[in-house]
Amino acid sequence: MELSERITNITAGGSDGWDTFYRARRMIADGIPVTELNIGEHDIRTHPDILNAMHSAALGGHTGYAVVPGTDSLRSAIAQRIQARTGVPTTAANILVTPGGQAGLFAAHNAVCNQGDTALYIDPYYVTYPGTIRSVGAVPKAIITTPDTAFQPTRAALDTAAPGAKSLLINSPNNPTGAVYLRATMESIAASCQQHDLWLISDEVYDTQVWDGEHISPRALPGMAERTLVVGSMSKSHAMTGSRVGWVCAPEHVINHLINLATHTTYGVAGFVQDAAEFALGQGVSVEETVAAPFRRRRELSLSVLAGQNAVRAVPAQGAMYLMLDIRATGLSGEGFANALLDAEQIAVMPGESFGAAAAGHIRVAMTIDDDRYVAALKRLIAFASDMVKQ
Ligand SMILES: Cc1ncc(COP(=O)(O)O)c(C=O)c1O
Repeated sequence: MELSERITNITAGGSDGWDTFYRARRMIADGIPVTELNIGEHDIRTHPDILNAMHSAALGGHTGYAVVPGTDSLRSAIAQRIQARTGVPTTAANILVTPGGQAGLFAAHNAVCNQGDTALYIDPYYVTYPGTIRSVGAVPKAIITTPDTAFQPTRAALDTAAPGAKSLLINSPNNPTGAVYLRATMESIAASCQQHDLWLISDEVYDTQVWDGEHISPRALPGMAERTLVVGSMSKSHAMTGSRVGWVCAPEHVINHLINLATHTTYGVAGFVQDAAEFALGQGVSVEETVAAPFRRRRELSLSVLAGQNAVRAVPAQGAMYLMLDIRATGLSGEGFANALLDAEQIAVMPGESFGAAAAGHIRVAMTIDDDRYVAALKRLIAFASDMVKQ
């Protein structure tokens, strides 16, 4: 019996980029103490007040089927947050609550792509992007960005790729590069989408993690609200990765169709999780700043540890919880370096190649362990790279 092409083709028969990650996990299972700088997850857990809100909601009876688009009050709270951050008029009717941003990415592509349509995305990219596009039957096409332009897509690259495509997926602040798109970059993206009649899917799950510059949502640019689907999430902003709660913000007619999709797929998000998310949003921006603070601090620490050596070079990162390091001076590929570092120093990082061709010769370091261990691991990583450069 043959399975569908759609399901068997999600990773296109290739690696899903997680080989080094799983190797590190196997070493840990075998009792080897590996320092994991490979995980995009906070080293703090969800705040107890949020968990108490979840517990109370569950004990209070919100354990049955929840309304599929999301509770009115959570949809309104999300809409208010978006309006406050972007100035774009937004109501509950513009919001679908999803089981995490990942489900939002799937839903958004489902909304705009037909079978066989070309869906653009920016390389380097978050590992699930091409598979998410394939899982809706569309064809992923990468737009390469380079370290020379600090991984910001250029208008020329956008316009070369755009003819005939249906959608463009962007992510700022960016995983894995840490790039925060400049206003000029967002304006080029908006202009290209309008010129080539593309839907824009804007993954903004790191919108609270901006260390330099400002987060610009392209939905706020002239003429973009009607062609932009924003994907958001509580995972990174509130350290709620395991709760699986995110959203799509889009024109009301798009949301109405997405509610049909949700009815026939996820059937919504657990009611007590939605109540906890609403409680968390009600705590205001100070909670978001507290959750983001360790990454801001570790980025500063990283820059001082990296100063005064040439073995590894930090790609200027303005946001998110990652550092992209150029390790080409060692003569190794990102994958070769990540594997050698894991064997020699028991430090796990993600090879750049996991995030696309444009990140070859780089590694991604997640700043997701406590400051002292983080600095010690980064120093060992640099010493290891320096030895390779000398050889
Ligand atoms: C760029 C990006 N988008 C989306 C997601 C998915 O996040 P979640 O499904 O937890 O909201 C992640 C997770 O790491 C990510 O890095």
